[in-house]
Amino acid sequence: MARLLVNTKNKKETIAPEIYGHFSEHLGRCIYEGLYVGENSDIPNVNGMRKDVVDALREIQVPVLRWPGGCFADEYHWKDGIGPKETRKKMINTHWGGVTEDNSFGTHEFMELCEQIGCKTYINGNLGSGTVQEMSEWVEYMTFNGMSPMADLRKKNGHEKPWKVDFFGVGNENWGCGGNMTPEHYGNEYRRYQTYVRNYDAERAIQKVCCGSNVDDYHWTEGVLKTCFDHTPEQFHGFMDFLSLHYYVFTDGWDKKGSATQFTDLDWFKVMKRALYMDTLIKGHSAIMDQYDPEKKIGMSVDEWGNWFDVEPGTNPGFLYQQNTVRDALVAGITLNIFNKHCDRVKMACLAQMVNVLQSVILTEGPKMVKTPTYHVFHMYRHHQGGKLLDSALTGVNEVGPDEWKVPHLTESVSEKDGVVTITINNLSVSDTENVEVTLDGMENVTLVEANIVTGAKDSYNTFDNPEQVKEEKFEAVTVAGNQLSLQIPPCSVVEIRVK
Ligand code: AHR
Repeated sequence: MARLLVNTKNKKETIAPEIYGHFSEHLGRCIYEGLYVGENSDIPNVNGMRKDVVDALREIQVPVLRWPGGCFADEYHWKDGIGPKETRKKMINTHWGGVTEDNSFGTHEFMELCEQIGCKTYINGNLGSGTVQEMSEWVEYMTFNGMSPMADLRKKNGHEKPWKVDFFGVGNENWGCGGNMTPEHYGNEYRRYQTYVRNYDAERAIQKVCCGSNVDDYHWTEGVLKTCFDHTPEQFHGFMDFLSLHYYVFTDGWDKKGSATQFTDLDWFKVMKRALYMDTLIKGHSAIMDQYDPEKKIGMSVDEWGNWFDVEPGTNPGFLYQQNTVRDALVAGITLNIFNKHCDRVKMACLAQMVNVLQSVILTEGPKMVKTPTYHVFHMYRHHQGGKLLDSALTGVNEVGPDEWKVPHLTESVSEKDGVVTITINNLSVSDTENVEVTLDGMENVTLVEANIVTGAKDSYNTFDNPEQVKEEKFEAVTVAGNQLSLQIPPCSVVEIRVK
C-alpha cells in the first residue's frame, strides 16, 4: 500500500493556467479541416471555425494557443495571410507534405479563433527567414492603437481595434528548422529582433519567448543565455520573459517512433519512462537558468511536448496524424503532474498539437469529431489551473516494469483553489491496482466534491464509430474518513479527486 501525505498548510507557487496550453501549426489537418473549415462549409461553423471543435475546446478551458508553428513559423510571411482571401498568396508548405498553403487562415482568423475559444494568444514570429522589419511590422499591425502604416492596413482589412498579443515567440527551433544557428548566433539575433517587438501599450505588454533547447541540449541553453545576458540591460524583464524547451516522446527514438495503437507492455514502459524524463530536463535547464535568473523571473515555456508516433497507416506521412490511446492519457497525466510540481519555473506549456496532429485532444474526419483520452485528462486537470501547488509526497511506492524500464507505480500532484483541494494520481502499471491512503494534513472532516477517472485497456482508443470507448467516468473506489482518503486505483489510469 502507498501513502500520500498532503500538507495543505504549505501552499507553494501558483500553477500558471498557461501550463495547460496548446499548439496549432499549419501542418496536416490541424488548422484546415481540424479548426477551420471556412464560412461556406457544410460543417457547422462560426466565421469559418468549427463549432463542434470550439465548443469542446471551451470545455477544457484552453488558456493559451500557440500559432502558426513550429517549423512553419520560420518560413511564414504574415502579409501573405491578410486581406481579401481570393488575392492571398499561395505557397508551398515545404516542411509538411509539400502541400499548397492558400493562406486563407491568417492573423485575423487566428485572433477570431482565440476569441471564440476564450484563450490567450501566443504568436510565433519568423526569425529564420524573415526580416526584423517584417517581425516588427507584424507586431505593429496587431497591437498598435493609433495612426500608422500597419495599424491603417489592419483597419482597411476590417479590424479597427488592435488585438492583444499575450506572448510572442522570437523564432522557433532556431538550432534546427529555424535556421540551423549556433547558440551564440541565435543569442545575438534574439537580442536584435526582440528590440523591435515593441510594446505599444504598456498596460498590455507582450511577453517575449526566446528559443530554448531541444531535449537535453544544455549547451544551447547555456550559449543563448550567456550571449543574451552579456552586456545586456540589467532589468531583463521585458527583454526575455520566457525560454522555451521542446521535448517529444518516441517509443525507441526518432527513427523508430513506434505505432500509436499497437504496442507491447515493454513499449508501454519505455514510453512511461521517457515521459518521466521531462522532470530531469526541467531540472537540468532550470539549473542553468538559475545562474542567470536566480529569482526565476524568466518562465520556462515547454511549448512543444507530447507523444510522437508513426502516422496512422494509409495517411500522408507529412501530416503526422496519429491515434491516441490510454497510454497517451497516462503520458499527459504524468507530464502535467511534473509541470505542476515545477510551477516555480514552468510558466507555460503547449501540447503538440491541438487537433489531428501528434498527441491531439481532438480528432476529426469530415463532419465527425472525437475527443481523445488525452482530452479527458485535460478536462480533469483543468481544476489545477491557477491553483496553489501544495506540498505532497508519496511513500511506499514500488517500481513497476522490466529492468532498465522500471518506473514508479504512481505519480501525483496536488493543488488548492477556492478552498477545494485537487489531487491527480496516475497508475503507471499495466496490470496492478494500487491502494493509496491519503492524509490531508491541516484539514478536518473532509468532504468529497468529485472524483473522476480515465482508464481502460492500455491500447484502447476512441474511433469515429465508437467515440466513447475511453472517457471520463465517476471514480467510485474512494472512501473518506476525517482527513483520510482510501483509494483503490486501477492499472492504466489517471484519477482526479477533489475534496474540501
Ligand atoms: O510539432 C511538429 C514539429 O516538431 C514542429 O513544427 C517543430 O517545431 C518540431 O520539431
